[in-house]
Amino acid sequence: MNAALAQQALPIPAVQQALLTWFDQHGRALPWRLGEEGARDPYRVWVAEILLQQTQVARGLVYYERFLTAFPSVEALAEAPIDAVLKAWEGCGYYARARNLHKAAGMMVAGGIPSTYAGWLALPGVGPYTAAAVASLAFNEGRAVNDGNVRRVLARLYGERLPTEPWVQARADALLDLSRPGAFNEAVMDLGATICTPKAPRCKVCPLAAWCEARASGEPTAFPAPKVRAAVRDVGAVAVLIGNEQHAVLERREGALLGGLMGLPSELREPDEAGAKALARLCARLNATPGALLGTVTHSMTHRRIVLDVYAAQSGQARTPVQDAALSRLDHKALGLLAARRGSLFGVE
Ligand code: ADE
Repeated sequence: MNAALAQQALPIPAVQQALLTWFDQHGRALPWRLGEEGARDPYRVWVAEILLQQTQVARGLVYYERFLTAFPSVEALAEAPIDAVLKAWEGCGYYARARNLHKAAGMMVAGGIPSTYAGWLALPGVGPYTAAAVASLAFNEGRAVNDGNVRRVLARLYGERLPTEPWVQARADALLDLSRPGAFNEAVMDLGATICTPKAPRCKVCPLAAWCEARASGEPTAFPAPKVRAAVRDVGAVAVLIGNEQHAVLERREGALLGGLMGLPSELREPDEAGAKALARLCARLNATPGALLGTVTHSMTHRRIVLDVYAAQSGQARTPVQDAALSRLDHKALGLLAARRGSLFGVE
């Protein structure tokens, strides 16, 4: 059966029922799922959805609890200084998300928490996915989410190798169970995360197996076809560690790469610029004396990988307690180099 026929033939009510019955038995107990279905705490759902955009659920759980403990309500978040919010976001990456959470919390405290998809969409950092998730989970609005899990599940169900965004959204809209939109959305997410996984789908226990075109093809993992990804570009940089893991000279980063966070003083290398030259420029700016190379750490983002050479250095500048600052994972890795090299270095305290 080709994809167009499968779409026509799919018995939507039966598929909805199978999926929701499965979800009622096997859905995951996650901390943002407290409360009545379709009427969850919008603040908790919103924070979870923003966090989970770039973080897997298993890892996100730890960050989520930490963030909710620090800011249990939208008021607490709005009142907090931005540096405290960035600190609580530490390790989650993509810090623009934390800044937008803070800004949107301020707007909600001033103007009220939106109760519709359109209202959520108007907030900074909230796109169609998050607006649909919050509107359906917290306000029972019939909005279908469209994320990576949804794309994979639907591509397989309909046997579509090259699903476009509009195609996924149209299929998700058509399949959404309007009597339980929040549960339906989370059922697709959970199915994608636990059964219809990218590499090893467990078709034998899938509630949708009877209708799945990809399963019928005998090669479910061929759907959807892998996306052709743009090459990841290396961005070279140098940093200096003046101090130790507890107290070090830190400065606020500027620019697109980790901008706004505190970090070891650093300079991007110009294309083809030798590390020594960038180090000299950095030390001249800081009035510091360069020491030994401690090592190189890397940090991968969607399109770029930062390759950071970390040097010891000395200067009279004031050191800051490291644990009070919001540092990127890259900086934590850089500080970790010192422990690895301890005892063998000249020029580091
Ligand atoms: N991933 C993103 N949002 C999710 C949610 N609400 N439940 C499970 N996984 C998710």
